[in-house]
Amino acid sequence: MSKTIIVSNRLPVKIYADDGGFNIVTSEGGLATGLGSVYRSGDNVWLGWPGIEVADEAQQEQVKQKLAEKSLVPVFLSADEISGYYEGFSNEILWPIFHYYASTYSNYKQSNWEYYSAVNKKFMAAVMQIAEPGDTIWIHDYQLLLLPGLIRAEQPDISIGFFLHIPFPSFEMFRLIPWRSELIEGMLGADLVGFHTFDDASHFINAATRLLPYNSSSNIITVDDRPVVVESFPMGIDDEKYAALTTTERVKQEAEHLKETFKDKKLILCIDRLDYSKGILQRLQAFEMLLEAHPEYREKVVLHMIVVPSRDGVPQYKELKQNIDRKVGDINARHRTIDWSPVNYFYRAFPIETLSALYHTADICLVTPMRDGMNLVSKEYVASRTQETGVLILSEMAGASKELIDAIIVNPSNINSMAKAMVKALNMPVFEQRRRMKLMRQVVSKFNIKHWVRIFMESIKEVKQMQQSMR
Ligand code: G6P
Repeated sequence: MSKTIIVSNRLPVKIYADDGGFNIVTSEGGLATGLGSVYRSGDNVWLGWPGIEVADEAQQEQVKQKLAEKSLVPVFLSADEISGYYEGFSNEILWPIFHYYASTYSNYKQSNWEYYSAVNKKFMAAVMQIAEPGDTIWIHDYQLLLLPGLIRAEQPDISIGFFLHIPFPSFEMFRLIPWRSELIEGMLGADLVGFHTFDDASHFINAATRLLPYNSSSNIITVDDRPVVVESFPMGIDDEKYAALTTTERVKQEAEHLKETFKDKKLILCIDRLDYSKGILQRLQAFEMLLEAHPEYREKVVLHMIVVPSRDGVPQYKELKQNIDRKVGDINARHRTIDWSPVNYFYRAFPIETLSALYHTADICLVTPMRDGMNLVSKEYVASRTQETGVLILSEMAGASKELIDAIIVNPSNINSMAKAMVKALNMPVFEQRRRMKLMRQVVSKFNIKHWVRIFMESIKEVKQMQQSMR
């Protein structure tokens, strides 16, 4: 029986060292939920880095066994590999360039590239230990751009799908990377290359055909007689899970508490990983502008801002944290009163029930990344609005803005227009909120995570059939 092997940099679990042993908590992340039905059935597996350094071999064996119970296979990385491949190449070169942060944030160290290639080979060796002819391999994201090509070289006939969860930049950005051709060649090892948006897919086709001697016709690139299909598959969420959460006792209690706490105030919610691509500082500037230009909102609005710690080994992230701390401190110090703090700032992760209560209660959700592949927070907010009111303010630079066209769409660099959007949201009549929210809820429900997984897997099969019929 053929199987499906999912591969991503990070496994969908958190592992904690615990009293000489290890404990595993399954992640609530969208990808983990969506692919749950795939990797937990039959002989299917999910392969990736367990997220912590486990140097000792006996301990590695322990982790391996614990993970095997959940159909997960670990790829262990040394401290040097984490620093060169994950922090250095993935997050100091690819992440900034793919999010249009050139030069200042990119660290083109040759040794980072060498670690990136070596770790992609390590992943290839781990896949080859379990892959058999007839299997399907679905590889995820920018940390593993070389992996499709490395697997293809070992198993020319195997089915490989690749999905990029972050934007693919225009050629003028992508060409800055010293190893640009190798990266494209790696991605083209797949049979199907998927992106969140049509623009990402066309940027990729443009880069591939300009950098390498391959031709494209519509969305097919021919690589040594092998057609590779490039397509957009906007990722969805498990909307039913978010709707159901709002009816649980715990969420209802938390939501009641929030309503009581903010009873005469409007709650504006932001939830992000700590990242410069999320536009957190620009958003704070816009909120400050709102308070200064519209004193009538003082003591009437609260910006509830959750920032989840991320990649704190990368220098730009540490620096951003300091800047956010300073900006929040400054806004609160200038504007607070005895009974009111304009910004409620949290620098930690919260359980999904707390997030659900916040999504369900907040009058406005402010999602203003400078660039974002998709942005699932915007969809989670919509899915949690079972009462059908609430306003989403969404950056035009997030993939989600192509689908959630009934949000208030803003340019995140335009501070003035973001402040105006907040005023518009604060004054939006309930019937208009409902009209927009209903339309957005239809989109989120129709194109949910199950739909995404199904059409991606079906498309890999179709590409394979097309290749076979051409032989
Ligand atoms: C983005 C990326 C994912 C990544 C996640 C968290 O969503 O597309 O590949 O796993 O951020 O980042 P981290 O570096 O903690 O894995």
